[in-house]
Amino acid sequence: MYSFDLWYLTNPKLEGEADEELVNLVDELKKGKALDIGCGQGRNTLYLASLGYEVVGIDGSNIAILQLMENAKVLGLNIECETCFISDFQFGEQFDLIVFSYVLHYILERPEQISFLYKIMDYTSVDGIVFIKVPLTEMQLESLSLKEGLLNRIFTHSHYEWEIMYDYIKLSGEKKDFETNVFIARKLGIKENQMN
Ligand SMILES: C[S@@+](CC[C@H](N)C(=O)[O-])C[C@H]1O[C@@H](n2cnc3c(N)ncnc32)[C@H](O)[C@@H]1O
Repeated sequence: MYSFDLWYLTNPKLEGEADEELVNLVDELKKGKALDIGCGQGRNTLYLASLGYEVVGIDGSNIAILQLMENAKVLGLNIECETCFISDFQFGEQFDLIVFSYVLHYILERPEQISFLYKIMDYTSVDGIVFIKVPLTEMQLESLSLKEGLLNRIFTHSHYEWEIMYDYIKLSGEKKDFETNVFIARKLGIKENQMN
């Protein structure tokens, strides 16, 4: 069984509030299509749907997706969701907002999956926003380079121009015992030197 399935089975009512940084961003957001990658039970997916976004949520846990569908039904919200591993996801279209909340560390643990970040950049529409939030435990701090500005570096050196709207690390958790990197970038377009 996929490890998160068991977690969601034993914690069916986890979902909680949408990320405050996402809520605070609402005025900056261009309405349209949103993709919530590793959406879990969908606290952000449901929030965006309630704002009128056309939202797609994907997650490797079938249990989380079933719980999300149930919650959407209860709330009368229309969302599209799919049980799918990140590495198998076929984008097919661009999104105005891509949310990657509490998921990136699972990707960074497997270096061969880092190219997925480039896919995210390709499939963000011009003027669209990428929202990444990643909590770091002490151990992850040691092994991942997020504290040294990894995301900023990857986005800045991509084929696209980005406005890095936020990139900071804050203490979080009830005991303030872990740190969270919040990274929000707006796609401005393709870099001039990348145009044919
Ligand atoms: C800590 S939960 C966060 C859920 C949600 N984004 C939120 O913030 O409430 C991490 C989620 O990422 C999903 N996940 C982790 N690695 C994944 C992968 N490679 N493909 C798809 N989903 C993945 C897990 O199934 C889990 O639901």
